[in-house]
Amino acid sequence: MKKNSSEKQNNSKIWGGRFLTSPNELMEEFNSSIQFDKRLYNQDIEGSIVHAEMLCKQKIISETDFKLIKSGLKKIKTEIYNNNFNFSIKLEDIHMNIENRLVDLIGDAGKKLHTARSRNDQVATDIKLWLRNRIDQIELDLKLLQKTLIEKSELYYDMLMPGYTHLQVAQPVTFGHHLLAYVEMIGRDRSRLIDCRKRLNESPLGSAALAGTSYPIDRDFVSHKLGFDKPTKNSMDAVSDRDFAVEFMSVSSLIAIHLSRLAEELVIWSSDRFNFVKLPESYTTGSSIMPQKRNPDAAELIRAKPGRIFGNLLSLMTVLKSLPMTYGKDMQEDKEPIFDTADTIEMCIMNMEGMIKGLEPISNNMIDALQKGFPTATDLADYLVINLEIPFRDAHHLTGKIILLAEEENCTLESLSLKDIQKIIPAADYKILEILKIQNSVSSRNSYGGTAPKNVLKAAKEAKQRFLKD
Ligand code: ARG
Repeated sequence: MKKNSSEKQNNSKIWGGRFLTSPNELMEEFNSSIQFDKRLYNQDIEGSIVHAEMLCKQKIISETDFKLIKSGLKKIKTEIYNNNFNFSIKLEDIHMNIENRLVDLIGDAGKKLHTARSRNDQVATDIKLWLRNRIDQIELDLKLLQKTLIEKSELYYDMLMPGYTHLQVAQPVTFGHHLLAYVEMIGRDRSRLIDCRKRLNESPLGSAALAGTSYPIDRDFVSHKLGFDKPTKNSMDAVSDRDFAVEFMSVSSLIAIHLSRLAEELVIWSSDRFNFVKLPESYTTGSSIMPQKRNPDAAELIRAKPGRIFGNLLSLMTVLKSLPMTYGKDMQEDKEPIFDTADTIEMCIMNMEGMIKGLEPISNNMIDALQKGFPTATDLADYLVINLEIPFRDAHHLTGKIILLAEEENCTLESLSLKDIQKIIPAADYKILEILKIQNSVSSRNSYGGTAPKNVLKAAKEAKQRFLKD
């Protein structure tokens, strides 16, 4: 009697035929992924429709069955979209939830959908389709961020600011030049995403559980219809490969690194001490206790997000490490880090774009900070070497003395008089006064890739061509 009732229960499981007892409830909860893989429903349905179409074309199922399957799946898609679908933990994952509902809706024809397929090739296909969409979107978001950065750099191509090494004033640069540095980083990120998408874009469907199938399927047809470049070559590799996800997460980690560097600069630049920029108010928050505050929360969050993005990458790498061929349930752990990485990186890019768009640089403060850092010291030393034939080490030493003098007199290098300078370098002439001007220093850095305003304007135009066309 007892055995009968438990048999009845287990027969209701899609895979329950050979089971005598029902799964432990805790285990059922532990085992299920529907809580998070429901996000794959569109891709799952798209893949299933194409699979069924192929089965029909190959005469593995009838035309009538295919039509029933297709309309049933479309109905399920609407139900899920409208929040009208009853997801069940008992049905484990998105694949079985949908298949089960299909059988509810269309009866026996629904039971034929899973012919010549396994959840192993199905889930690999679903994630690839999902991730491919997101990669395309993220790449577009990055392009928009580049556009905004390039537009700003054109606007401020000649605005002087301190260039730093060791976070100490080093040499004058322009604000436009500084922003274009990020355009290059993001350009590399975009090409890495495109590269990752290329390798991802092979169709696993038809690999079945791990060994392929004896049904006369047409993998090329399915691959083509789903927008893949070609079917995967090896069925065992196809169901066990998550390299594409690791690649996506490592590309995202680099994007996160780049964004966090810019975010940190925004935090520094907008601090009271620097006051180089005003962040758009809409990306800052007030303090609940200190009325004067305007905190750069968006920038701080972007600075912090690499924590979870690196964590996601490490978590998937650890899951895959030492996993024997082929599919293991371990691989169900891939989804949450993939989803979270895509969501997080997209939010970071979009918030950064908004902040850059509304960013207002405060030129006077940048120039003040620049002057305090004696940024034309290198120019002076070079001048002494080239024009007064003083060996570089001596020139370096003499320039150091000039800086001491400016410090003593509490003035900028530009405001020293020729007389003062001649006390240290008797051969100095009026040309030295020109050399000490920050404007001249910046303009002189006109080597390829340098910060001279003319170069920056040209570089911005070139970047538009390279990154923003089509
Ligand atoms: N929910 C599973 C996953 O995400 C689907 C594949 C299950 N395959 C299996 N043989 N149990 O990995």
